[in-house]
Amino acid sequence: MCGIVGYVGDRDATEVLIKGLKRLEYRGYDSAGIALIDGKLIVQKGKGKVINLEKGSKKNNLSGKLGIGHTRWATHGEPNDVNSHPHLSETGKIAVVHNGIIENYNTLKKQLIERGRTFQSQTDTEIIAQLIEEIYTKSKGVTFEQAIRLALKQIVGTYGLAILNIETPDKIYIARKGSPLLLGVGENEMFIASDASPIVEYTNKVVYLDDGEMAIVTRSNYEVKTIDDSPLTKEVHELAISLDAIEKAGYPHFMLKEIFEQPRSIADCMRGRIDVENSSILLGGIEDVIDDLVNAKRIVIAACGTSWHSALVGEYLFEQLAKTPVEVEYASEFRYRDPLIGKGDVLLVISQSGETADTLAALREAQEKGALVLGICNVVGSTISRETDAGVFTHAGPEIGVASTKAFTAQVVVLIMMALELGQRKGLISSDEMKRYIAELSRIPAKVEHILEHSDDTIKKMASLFTYAPNFLYLGRSYSFPVALEGALKLKEISYIHAEGYPAAEMKHGPIALIDEMMPVVVIAATDHTNDKMVSNIEEVKARKGRLIAIINDENTEVKDLADFCVSIPNTIDCFSPLLTVIPLQLLSYYIAVNRGCNVDQPRNLAKSVTVE
Ligand code: AGP
Repeated sequence: MCGIVGYVGDRDATEVLIKGLKRLEYRGYDSAGIALIDGKLIVQKGKGKVINLEKGSKKNNLSGKLGIGHTRWATHGEPNDVNSHPHLSETGKIAVVHNGIIENYNTLKKQLIERGRTFQSQTDTEIIAQLIEEIYTKSKGVTFEQAIRLALKQIVGTYGLAILNIETPDKIYIARKGSPLLLGVGENEMFIASDASPIVEYTNKVVYLDDGEMAIVTRSNYEVKTIDDSPLTKEVHELAISLDAIEKAGYPHFMLKEIFEQPRSIADCMRGRIDVENSSILLGGIEDVIDDLVNAKRIVIAACGTSWHSALVGEYLFEQLAKTPVEVEYASEFRYRDPLIGKGDVLLVISQSGETADTLAALREAQEKGALVLGICNVVGSTISRETDAGVFTHAGPEIGVASTKAFTAQVVVLIMMALELGQRKGLISSDEMKRYIAELSRIPAKVEHILEHSDDTIKKMASLFTYAPNFLYLGRSYSFPVALEGALKLKEISYIHAEGYPAAEMKHGPIALIDEMMPVVVIAATDHTNDKMVSNIEEVKARKGRLIAIINDENTEVKDLADFCVSIPNTIDCFSPLLTVIPLQLLSYYIAVNRGCNVDQPRNLAKSVTVE
């Protein structure tokens, strides 16, 4: 969950590194630092955001043409100056920045201390610098590059690493195992980063390092090898994202920009994949495995967080439209319980970042057991997208806000298209029904636009009434149940208000005890076939003086008369309703968080991509 950058070339390395770290801050932001080689090895680092590092670098007038940088999400050792990266070896000649977790660092640290080494920090990362130096200085005839390889062979865990050695002032050494690392190839300059956002303004040529690989980088060249010293020739990819896609474009926060981008991101997700004329769907990324999907005994979907919520929507979709049994699993639970999955099964992993450690581990576990593994990812070139057997990209564009919004709706669109294609291939959806589904799907972007245009002000006003509520309850049935969970997560993670999502009927089995005049209850009453039941749930809330916020279809007058506050949204087919009902909940959580003065794009304790377990 940390961000790593590196640069070598003719530019002011400090400026390139700081700018790059700002673009990676969504990955982790409790401390930051850089190391530069400018005749000597200089380190500037400390607790706090990159802006503090920038001020410190300016004050100390740092300069250099080669360097590495890091923005941290603490795993070992509290966020403070000494635990921030880069970490130095004892002699101060080697600097390391690291993303990942060294699981055997205690053992290695004890061994190094027994050999007389002293440590400054409580981090696992520091042992990497110390171990490399121990091997390099104590082993005869070992080059620095070999010392790195020998050290990495002793490490159990995950890493994305960038390393400097003052004795090789023109080189940056990078290595990857389990945490993403890219090399940006420029004209007589090279860029290193945890993802493409720090690189895209300089070059669109990138090389993705894979697990077990390292590279030695100079301004004019790079050599990629395995950790066992076998040279590799890697493909140079062209980045498909642009700089303005990662800028705020005039919005106060990335999250608001990404909420308002949804009409376009949903349209982009469908582009070239739905044919309204012929009422057909074509998902090229799974074309080769569609028969395996048709014949699958079941589909297991594994994911985390918001992606797990879209997975729950997928369960309803596949079972309703394609009559394929589905099980939804938390990736972290799936991977540790020796899952009963194998040949004939399909595991579908969903991940916006394509780097979530638990989801990646679930993928690898299922592959080892012989299942076909498909992916739904938003980041092209991400590890999960490269390790699945096939998959579908959501094409939602870079999602910078830590709270996922447009990625959720794009994931649901992909799941809808997959379920429709599967249902049609299984002969369960007639061409007339397909025509109706596809025609409605093509109208969704405009319906999302309508909600954004007509409800934004209402929701902003409503948010001011609930800004200091201590708790929230979100209730939904059927397709609205996962949306209730998603709405609660949005509120929790950016406003720090405790919120719970529940299947509406479940409220009677305990949570109803929570309801009083202090408890705002958001009910999502926009699915036709459960509306009557939702009305009785709403009556139960009202009878206990709960303050009711209802997300309803335009003509749902029954609920409108009962609710204290209403947000009306356009009608749609029940199985498409999550694409619309989630929008007001995203806006509600955003405005409440802003009213509370929270850092909406970088909420406390969180990071955008959880690449540690
Ligand atoms: C969503 O708002 C959260 N930031 C988080 O739950 C996220 O969905 C989860 O970490 C999974 O990330 P992924 O989709 O990139 O795998």
